[in-house]
Amino acid sequence: DLEGSYSLGILFADHPDQVYAVRCESPLIVGVGDGESFIASDVPAIIEYTRNYYLLEHDEIAVLGKDGVHIYDVFGQLVEKELKTADWDVEAIGKGGYAHFMLKEIHEQPAAIRNTISARIQDGLPNLEECGITPEVLRSFRHIQVVACGTAMHAGTVGKYVIEKLARVPVTVDIASEFRYREPLVGEGDLVIIISQSGETADSLAAMRLAKSLGAKTLAIVNAMGSSIAREADMLIYTHAGPEIAVASTKAYMVQIAVMYLFAFELALAVGKIDADECRRLVKLLEQTPDTISEILEHKEQTQYIASSLITADSLLYIGRGLDYALSMEGSLKLKEISYIHSESYAAGELKHGTISLITENMPVIAVATQTALREKTISNIKEVKARGARVILICRENDTVDPDAVDLKFGLPEFDDLLMPMIAVVPLQLIAYYTSVLKGNDVDKPRNLAKSVTVE
Ligand code: G6P
Repeated sequence: DLEGSYSLGILFADHPDQVYAVRCESPLIVGVGDGESFIASDVPAIIEYTRNYYLLEHDEIAVLGKDGVHIYDVFGQLVEKELKTADWDVEAIGKGGYAHFMLKEIHEQPAAIRNTISARIQDGLPNLEECGITPEVLRSFRHIQVVACGTAMHAGTVGKYVIEKLARVPVTVDIASEFRYREPLVGEGDLVIIISQSGETADSLAAMRLAKSLGAKTLAIVNAMGSSIAREADMLIYTHAGPEIAVASTKAYMVQIAVMYLFAFELALAVGKIDADECRRLVKLLEQTPDTISEILEHKEQTQYIASSLITADSLLYIGRGLDYALSMEGSLKLKEISYIHSESYAAGELKHGTISLITENMPVIAVATQTALREKTISNIKEVKARGARVILICRENDTVDPDAVDLKFGLPEFDDLLMPMIAVVPLQLIAYYTSVLKGNDVDKPRNLAKSVTVE
């Protein structure tokens, strides 16, 4: 009789020894321990007690009792299910000595990248064959549509720039809640990439089902094993970030981008836009990102200092061009999610068409300028906002000389290739958001009004 998406745990007064659980779209697992069982929406909730669990399908009903767990379909027929074992350990869901999960997860990024890419590289080249992606399959797509929500959508936006630059295949990126209701123009010959940490986001799942029904091929880039999006996609690349507990996504974003790079390299090679030597060079750069990120993590004091300059702000802007713009979207989202300071990201060249009127004395503007070809253009936008009273914080290479009259604070990044710079430059943006939230005394890992996994529309 109930309509909508839900998972319920139900107790009956006249069955005091049993717990009933039912899944309708929203995820539900049943953990099986030694003489005890558990219901939860995701594995991290039960891992402290048991690694063994059943993953319930839509419309299935579990009965937990003294004699164990029994699962039934909607007609009341007993269902035989495979007992799954989570390969995460308890440390993975603890804070490991860090003040917050978010900080721990930021520090886990180098390892997460290695875990995600290493098995997908062979002889120095990307190999996504075990995910169902071969050069022939890649050559068959005339257009790529990326669909996702929140941070995952921002990872897709970075992917768009990289795929179009290297492979010259057109890519559009859409928010899942928009895509699903706009009669999208996808069909046979198109690839729809769904990016999702949880693999359960209701809009992303619905968008994927729609794309499939229209005849497009779907590729899921998902972190949570066995999740709905992972199970239903035609092709699947798991990211191996491990459990991400903080609501604000950091390491999941990082590995989503890493996968987008690998995918773009393989696609560019498959369609003949780069040769094997160039592809190897790019893969090597990708393999170097973890060490460079670790370097930044060892010198993060400047991000604390920048954060301390933001806590009194009511509103701020992030600006950049090209990949820096894609990245600034994520920087802005991170900050607003956990610091509760209003912020917008804007393409630096578009400011003059309206948004520059918002600049008032002392308003912080965080400018990202890592793309060599666009640097001078961004610098001239910085001067425009500076002239109107903005307090400019610049994220650029350590060795870049900056005009002290145009920039108030600078975060210097280690030298790295322009194309892969988003993976490096996102780290100070994450840290700035983190420390701003800490300094404001907010609940960093569980920001108000937000959920880690949004299984409702
Ligand atoms: C929620 C989370 C975000 C996340 C988004 C998409 O809003 O708070 O951090 O980016 O959902 O989640 P997904 O699991 O699909 O990546």
